[in-house]
Amino acid sequence: MTADILTTDQIQAIRDRVADLMPQVRADLERLVRIPSVSAASFDQSQVARSAEAVAELLRAEGLDTEIVVEGGRPAVIGHIVGPEGAPTVTLYAHHDVQPPGDDADWDSKPFEPVERDGRLYGRGAADDKAGVMAHVAALRAFKGELPVSVTVFVEGEEESGSPSLGTILDRHGDRLAADAIVLADSGNWQIGTPALTTTLRGGVRVIVRVQTLDHSVHSGMYGGAAPDAVTALIRLLGTLHDDEGNVAVEGLDEGVAADLDYDEARFREESGLLDGVSLIGTGSILTRLWTKPSITTIGMDVTSIEKASNTLAAKAAAKVSMRIAPTQDPKAAFEALKRHLESHAPWGAKVSVSLEELGSGFAADANGPVYDEARAAFADAWGTEPVDMGVGGSIPFISDFAARFPDAAILVTGVEDPDTRAHGANESLHLGEFERVCVAEALLLARLGARQSR
Ligand code: BES
Ligand code: MN
Repeated sequence: MTADILTTDQIQAIRDRVADLMPQVRADLERLVRIPSVSAASFDQSQVARSAEAVAELLRAEGLDTEIVVEGGRPAVIGHIVGPEGAPTVTLYAHHDVQPPGDDADWDSKPFEPVERDGRLYGRGAADDKAGVMAHVAALRAFKGELPVSVTVFVEGEEESGSPSLGTILDRHGDRLAADAIVLADSGNWQIGTPALTTTLRGGVRVIVRVQTLDHSVHSGMYGGAAPDAVTALIRLLGTLHDDEGNVAVEGLDEGVAADLDYDEARFREESGLLDGVSLIGTGSILTRLWTKPSITTIGMDVTSIEKASNTLAAKAAAKVSMRIAPTQDPKAAFEALKRHLESHAPWGAKVSVSLEELGSGFAADANGPVYDEARAAFADAWGTEPVDMGVGGSIPFISDFAARFPDAAILVTGVEDPDTRAHGANESLHLGEFERVCVAEALLLARLGARQSR
């Protein structure tokens, strides 16, 4: 066996160093969480600008040549620091914008006032993805300005809004993001104590489907029984999207097979909060259903509210439908399949129109090669246990843009989330013990990539 690229003393020194750094990293994370940087248009965008400033300040303090770039969307931060001659370049990605907090009443503490309970830090963005930002900062701090590799940090400000200007940012500033390895810290690990590399993500298609049955709304007593109302027609149409077992019934969608990890129904019920007596939907292994098969969810509807309801046949109704697709399926083809299905299943001849809101590509990594080898070794040292390859059912659509723009770069998807994180939900939180291991792993990865080059 050849000697490891880092000695056990070097590894321990990085662990100790990161442990010493954690109180300040945590304080800086809390400062970021206090800035309500919601990128959705209906929120105050001066807060997103403030959080970009705060991130830029953190990078400048570590000696990075840092700029805030705005290309028609929300502000992104790009920082660069040069490593030793001949060392590889690593680009570290995270996003500083967050999802809307939802209803304060659903939270046990205020969403933008971080608090610790039972080893977890609660707050919107405490995990997704301000902890991703701080993991990068922690890795930089671990080397006190003497980085083993050249590093570019790219912190986006609109990931939660679908990264609308990322294409332009890549066009105009892409040269500065070029790297041998790109680490995207916006996913998570398999479970507390078991690290993971995320090797597949699903793609997504979001549409609005509108149904009309009448020229105008009419009295339900006078016309009900012979004329169909649009709400009922819409609901029947949505009902055709799944078969009786709960599988997606749209023809023309791809499906793959998920990584073979142990994941039983009891764990799924616990983590998802599924109520007793409610059955799972779909067929195939649970992970295949979550990671590599399509899923369809109605995420919103425009129908008359109960409060405003009267005895009326509604003329029109609409729903927003979100479909997740297999990692390697072309989202355009998946959209066409969904549109065909909806148009051809209109009940009672109802007028159906489908408009596209958003398409996002999935991702399936080629999880081999030297960068992946070093990442797996770094994770094993940080956790004391080997990492697994996992998929996630969520999407990071721009990863495919990065992969296309930098075809020779190894793309690693890492992150701070765990099954209890509740990203996007009320009571989002970060497991502080796991967070430290994420920081250690990233510092070890940089050390390994640098050591590999200089050997
Ligand atoms: N961090 C998530 C992606 C993710 C989800 C990783 C689940 C690991 C597990 C990311 O911020 C996200 O939420 N993406 C959106 C897509 C986007 C186009 C709004 C998603 O998946 O809904
Ligand atoms: Mn995220």
